[in-house]
Amino acid sequence: MSTPHWTGTRLHHPGFDDHYGIDDGGFSEALHVFIDAAQLVERFAQGGTVRVGDLGLGSGRNLLTVWSVFAAVAPPDARLELHTFERDPLPFKDARAALQRCWETCAPEDRSRLVGLLERMDRLASTWPTPLPGVSELHTGDPRVRIVAWTGDAGETVPWLDEPLHHWCLDGFSPSANPAMWAEPLLQAIGARTALGGTATTYTAAGRVRRALIAAGFAVQKVPGHGRKRDMLAGIRGGEDAVVAGTTLRHPWPEGRALGSIAVVGAGIAGCSVARELAEAGCVVDVFEADVPASGASGNPWALLQPLPNLGGSPVGDWTTRAFVWTRAWARRRGLPWEALTVARYGDKRDHANRLRAELPWGAALEDPSTIEDAPPGAILGLTTAAMVPPQVWCSLLLAHDRIRVHTHTPVTALTPGWMLGSHGPFDTVILANSFAARALVPALDLHPVRGQLAVLPATAASAGQARALCGPVYLLPERGGRHLLGATYHRDDPEPALRNEDTRWLWQALEAAVPEAAGALAAPDAHTEGRVSWRGVTPGRLPFVGPIDDPIAVSATLDARKRTRPQFPASALQPGLWVSAGHGSRGLVGAPFAAKVLVDALLGRRPPLPADTLDAVHPSRVTVARVRRERDG
Ligand SMILES: Cc1cc2nc3c(=O)[nH]c(=O)nc-3n(C[C@H](O)[C@H](O)[C@H](O)COP(=O)(O)OP(=O)(O)OC[C@H]3O[C@@H](n4cnc5c(N)ncnc54)[C@H](O)[C@@H]3O)c2cc1C
Ligand SMILES: C[S@@+](CC[C@H](N)C(=O)[O-])C[C@H]1O[C@@H](n2cnc3c(N)ncnc32)[C@H](O)[C@@H]1O
Repeated sequence: MSTPHWTGTRLHHPGFDDHYGIDDGGFSEALHVFIDAAQLVERFAQGGTVRVGDLGLGSGRNLLTVWSVFAAVAPPDARLELHTFERDPLPFKDARAALQRCWETCAPEDRSRLVGLLERMDRLASTWPTPLPGVSELHTGDPRVRIVAWTGDAGETVPWLDEPLHHWCLDGFSPSANPAMWAEPLLQAIGARTALGGTATTYTAAGRVRRALIAAGFAVQKVPGHGRKRDMLAGIRGGEDAVVAGTTLRHPWPEGRALGSIAVVGAGIAGCSVARELAEAGCVVDVFEADVPASGASGNPWALLQPLPNLGGSPVGDWTTRAFVWTRAWARRRGLPWEALTVARYGDKRDHANRLRAELPWGAALEDPSTIEDAPPGAILGLTTAAMVPPQVWCSLLLAHDRIRVHTHTPVTALTPGWMLGSHGPFDTVILANSFAARALVPALDLHPVRGQLAVLPATAASAGQARALCGPVYLLPERGGRHLLGATYHRDDPEPALRNEDTRWLWQALEAAVPEAAGALAAPDAHTEGRVSWRGVTPGRLPFVGPIDDPIAVSATLDARKRTRPQFPASALQPGLWVSAGHGSRGLVGAPFAAKVLVDALLGRRPPLPADTLDAVHPSRVTVARVRRERDG
């Protein structure tokens, strides 16, 4: 991938062979084209919620301009929701440097309209998007302002918006350098997601852009451009009210808002994150936990979080990477501990690593170890965007909310429609987040326990300098509190709760074989070596179950077996109010917070921000449909 770089004082994108609009007078242009031509000051001053689209994010000039003008003129009850789209996010430091330069040449009268702009930019540093595809919500430090960042091609991501916006800032390089950005398909998607009377403005006056905007439902005017540009375009959405068409999915999701009284079963990361999202959406949530919070797999001292390359479009890779993108900003926005680190990956799949580097548009997220000075010997690939986090601390911070009531030592042993959890209830909505044990309540959920043992090794003077996580057949985390974590074994349906010396030995031998230098820096474990045993919940195909739970008999009765494509059976075959987030396997700290986002969006009647194939791939009904088909096919 070609990375944007500086040519003198200008930032250049080699892929589009064009410069970012952040030269002298950049803020003056942004105010003229994206604020004044759209009369945003007047709209902000009226109060209420204004939703603005920003395509593309680039240096953040337009995003920060809109936010700063809002902060200056909007009354206290006003809200701003910004949706920013970007295919190739710049590193934060480059975007920040570009804005700084632009600010230094900004005229005093423009500066006075943008007070605090650079400070706002600095608040975005910890959640600034990386080049991984996905959606995330940035930390604004301002409860009145939400910024949703969509990374990936806007042609793919704009159609996932499920609410019309009031204004679009269209700034995607020149139409000759980037024709796809200005062509009818994307502008049609934008038109379909613009409220009646909403606007779209752009610095260009090109005829083909004007025609495409008109075809997308805008009444378009040429108005005076900025500086030396004679004209620019300003469109007002006319015609019918915006209809945001949903995507066709293979398996159904209930329509509309469905909440009422809510119970969550299980207080690991899956239960804690969904309870927290619901509490923040204004719901009171009862969490039932058989033991104490984070006593299962989410009780490990540290977990490694990393995206997963999805070569060949694998749904596991797509889910995990999108989940990583969401969870990274979600955790940082909440101030959950997040220790960013880089990962050196080991293994014998060098071809695989080479293909990854060649094929993935991940930019700075991947490193070639041969080019890195401190790369450990034998590493085949580096990931720059990863983290280690303490799951137990996450769970307890997430549960600390006025609207969450935790019932500890309260196992749910029966689930009856209504919904009664044993003698507790009734509840309108029940979310099963009790990992593999969900199968005891809903037998159709094909979940298995997989035992995992970790070893905790004392750090030495030689090992304490290890800054990267080493990841291969086993993983070794950098020292924290004088200890390294070495994980993990993987044994299906193995109920042994006690630490096994042979498992610790296996972990050590795997480390010695893959990274002898790292093992050499540590003392070998012995019979007194500490560790922890817990169980992952694993599904066939390694994707979690995230979504509504069906009634298998109703599915069997209504499944149209002739239709090999979508849709296959109606939403009436779902069990009203019954949901699941389980089967997060070996990546639950990455996946469960995103699963919570998906579930809460669905419960609030919004479309979760995922490609249809990935949403289908995590839908619990995939196993029911496969089973019904197998039975029919004999
Ligand atoms: C050894 C090991 C290492 C791992 N390392 C990583 C890693 O580095 N990175 C990563 O992302 N993931 C890792 N994972 C996976 C991750 O820990 C799990 O995917 C995640 O913790 C699962 O969260 P959960 O909430 O679904 O399940 P759990 O954390 O197991 O929580 C389920 C909860 O439900 C409760 N419960 C069960 N039955 C009932 C019932 N009937 N009624 C009420 N409550 C009930 C349990 O007591 C438990 O507290 C690892 C897993 C293991 C085993
Ligand atoms: C002119 S620059 C943006 C300027 C930006 N508003 C700023 O303030 O710096 C155009 C941006 O749009 C992005 N872009 C172009 N085509 C895109 C597409 N199809 N999807 C998403 N982003 C795109 C580019 O990567 C680039 O960052």
